Amino acid sequence: MHAALLDEAHRAIEKKLPERGNDYRLGYHLSPPAGWMNDPNGLVFFRGEYHMFYQHHPYSAQWGPMHWGHAKSRDLVHWEHLPIALAPSEPYDRDGCFSGSAVVADDTLYLIYTGHQWLGETRNDEQIRQVQCLASSADGITFTKQGVVLQTPPDPSIMHWRDPKVWRRDGQWWMALGARQGDDPQLLLYRSADLHHWEYLSCALQGRREPDGYMWECPDIFELDGCDVFLYSPQGLKPCGYDNWNLYQNSYRTGRLDDSGQFTPCGELHELDHGHDFYAAQTLLAPDGRRLLWAWMDMWESPMPSQAQHWCGALSLPRELSRDGDRLRMRPARELTALRQSQTLLQIDEVASTSHVLDVQGALLEFELELDLAGSSAERFGLALRCSEDGRERTLLYFDAMARRLVLDRQYSGAGVSGVRSVPIAPGQTRIALRVFLDRSSIEVFVDDGAYTLSSRIYPRPDSLLASAFAVNGTGCFGSMSAWRLADLQI
Ligand code: FRU
Repeated sequence: MHAALLDEAHRAIEKKLPERGNDYRLGYHLSPPAGWMNDPNGLVFFRGEYHMFYQHHPYSAQWGPMHWGHAKSRDLVHWEHLPIALAPSEPYDRDGCFSGSAVVADDTLYLIYTGHQWLGETRNDEQIRQVQCLASSADGITFTKQGVVLQTPPDPSIMHWRDPKVWRRDGQWWMALGARQGDDPQLLLYRSADLHHWEYLSCALQGRREPDGYMWECPDIFELDGCDVFLYSPQGLKPCGYDNWNLYQNSYRTGRLDDSGQFTPCGELHELDHGHDFYAAQTLLAPDGRRLLWAWMDMWESPMPSQAQHWCGALSLPRELSRDGDRLRMRPARELTALRQSQTLLQIDEVASTSHVLDVQGALLEFELELDLAGSSAERFGLALRCSEDGRERTLLYFDAMARRLVLDRQYSGAGVSGVRSVPIAPGQTRIALRVFLDRSSIEVFVDDGAYTLSSRIYPRPDSLLASAFAVNGTGCFGSMSAWRLADLQI
């Protein structure tokens, strides 16, 4: 049954491929060959390769009954698509194999995921049943469902509990789940010796609708530089100042997880990325000890113009995590320098109340530069990227001296999207160091060595390829800048 459904899903993808449009197709980010993608799932290192699974709907570019798409990589740069790993096939997961994680035990690859059922109308979130399920694979390609391992939540009134994250701690398997009790969010923990039998350990953290939201999706808990981090995707946070303007957030808190399963936060709640499109992030401990993170580089209910071209959804670039007090730093994975092709050194120095077209253009570019705040007098200065010849399309990244913020503006970034996002620049700060990655329909900005990041989808026309440096009312000081064309891997 499962095998036949997977075959059918593959045929659906094969059928769509010739119709797929490539205007917005990403060159070096993972996206589905056709159909829909959301959360990254089951990040795992197995027999010398990184495996990435993802929420996938192969039958259309809209969200639908969730499958697990699958790809693998040796180097975090080149990805190979593999057959779909999971399809809804059993009564317990008939309406979707929702998000989850992967572990390796005795050289076998295990997937732990949420089986979803609609009990009333499809998409009526008020009548659902969710269970936690296990699947295994000896070869890392073909998966056999092992059935339900957690049938009922600790409080039977809970309907929403999902996205199991399993990890090893002190010789046992631990599982974190996000849950919704009434309108309050919870982080639940379970423990197991064998991945099949689980005992309830604790409600590690209890939230309240105000101010914590109503549901914590996609939890992840890991140790980082001597501290524990609870990473999650809260639904229902209210916008506040410059924060929380996306429909849902991706947030974290540092703290301590004790052996009895209590998580005691010690830091503030922080947004993980400050762009428009970043959700459901998950991490992986690489063999060399680095904590790597990927997110879904989209947001629920945002415009997704690539749907008209029969595909939709992408994952962010992999990022290396480190900790600074109660804040996380995210740097692009060091392997990504392998994407760099020809380099252009741009010596712009000053731009005075005008814009200066750069001697580099393209859809797949990386920039490395510094904005010299101390030497500048402009009200705003920065880069205009993916500009059309007529100047109508452009994506702006600039320092706003009045607000003292670094702003990413996608008001004119092409089909469907709009709005600005920004991060604060400290009062005494004299320079901003930037690394910017452009792909055909995305921009990822790493600010001050990963102290902040902004990740957003943009949908300029394929021929909007110019880049310029600009300053408004005064001079902007850029110094020297490097730009690279990046490899078009078409993954
Ligand atoms: C997060 C999420 C998860 C769920 C999955 C369904 O984006 O809502 O909580 O498992 O997507 O596709």
